[in-house]
Amino acid sequence: MFSLHQFKHLTSAGFARRLSTSTRSPRILVTGSLGQLGSTMVNTLRSKYGQENVIASDIKKPTLAQRSTGPFVYADVLNYRSLDQIVVDYGIDWVVHFSAILSAAGERNPALGLNVNINGFQNILEVAKAHKLRLLSPSTMGAFGPSTPKDDTPDLTIMRPNTIYGISKVHMELLGEYYCEKYGVDFRSLRYPGIISADSPPGGGTTDYAVDIFHAALEHNRYTCFLKAETRLPMAFIDDCITGTVQLLEAPAESLTQRTYNVHACAFSPEELAQEIRRQHSKDFVIDYAPDFRQDIADTWPRTMADVAARKDWGWNPLFGTSEIVRSMLDKLAPVYKNAAIASQSQPTSAELPPAAVTAN
Ligand SMILES: NC(=O)c1ccc[n+]([C@@H]2O[C@H](COP(=O)([O-])OP(=O)(O)OC[C@H]3O[C@@H](n4cnc5c(N)ncnc54)[C@H](O)[C@@H]3O)[C@@H](O)[C@H]2O)c1
Repeated sequence: MFSLHQFKHLTSAGFARRLSTSTRSPRILVTGSLGQLGSTMVNTLRSKYGQENVIASDIKKPTLAQRSTGPFVYADVLNYRSLDQIVVDYGIDWVVHFSAILSAAGERNPALGLNVNINGFQNILEVAKAHKLRLLSPSTMGAFGPSTPKDDTPDLTIMRPNTIYGISKVHMELLGEYYCEKYGVDFRSLRYPGIISADSPPGGGTTDYAVDIFHAALEHNRYTCFLKAETRLPMAFIDDCITGTVQLLEAPAESLTQRTYNVHACAFSPEELAQEIRRQHSKDFVIDYAPDFRQDIADTWPRTMADVAARKDWGWNPLFGTSEIVRSMLDKLAPVYKNAAIASQSQPTSAELPPAAVTAN
């Protein structure tokens, strides 16, 4: 006869063995999934792992279209108990932690930035520790600071950022690595450059200009930039960003020689980007400059980052340079603006509407 203790041990060991030998797909929670990067990430993961295995979450309300692609739950990363419950209810194995307050938004509201980026991350780490989850939480080139070497910035270098965003991301990197070493939490991170995407609006970063400029070019053929003409920063296209993030998420732990990696794709200044837009879109495109507080942030960031380890350890291999990014952004956004222009032209003017219709509005 087995004792109760032996029975519990045998059943849990057998259960664990069954799980580990099965080919069951991991169940993945994405926090902050309604931000600039989240929806592309969720769609990519769902196409790989199945719709039901990827749980999107945020504190914002999803649109009907966003809800229709798979499970969505409300998850405030400041609430440990609700995170814990979601992980238990959905049987989560991996977390992609995208909830954050970005650089410009963090300087506008430092208390919020500290709370979400530090306390929110702490909650996620604790949940990952309690349930033995794999945790991918991106860092940023903003984790570097004014005393960091600006060109070919290596993975390991001086890190003394002077923004709330940068400070909270250095905290995140170090705490993640601490929990990895001390408690075995499978923490992974990559320092993104500015990410350019046509799918969703940027969420309050210092490189947002490199998205806004395409909308302005297509709508007005002119743009006023909040950074100076010559401010060169590292950038990457969303496709490379998401492909690379999934590669790091899936990499065998043995292949990782470090837990936080630089990733770099290309670098350009606002003037260089404007020139490429003139070449591919309209030679009459006009850019002027009205630098604001974001210039001070950008001045502390690298111009280029060295990403040798990411390429070697898990295959980071970006395909989009400046020219390809501009081509893709114009290809994706031009039809949207064209259709909007046609729709507005086909709207009857008030002079053409019958009097009842005019007064009804
Ligand atoms: N977009 C970039 O260029 C860029 C560059 C470097 C690093 N990153 C990093 O990538 C990740 C995703 O960035 P993004 O651009 O999608 O950011 P975003 O600002 O567009 O989205 C962040 C999301 O977090 C959510 N959020 C805020 N407070 C929350 C809370 N208390 N609980 C749960 N969710 C909350 C917001 O509602 C938002 O949908 C972040 O970690 C960011 O630091 C982004």
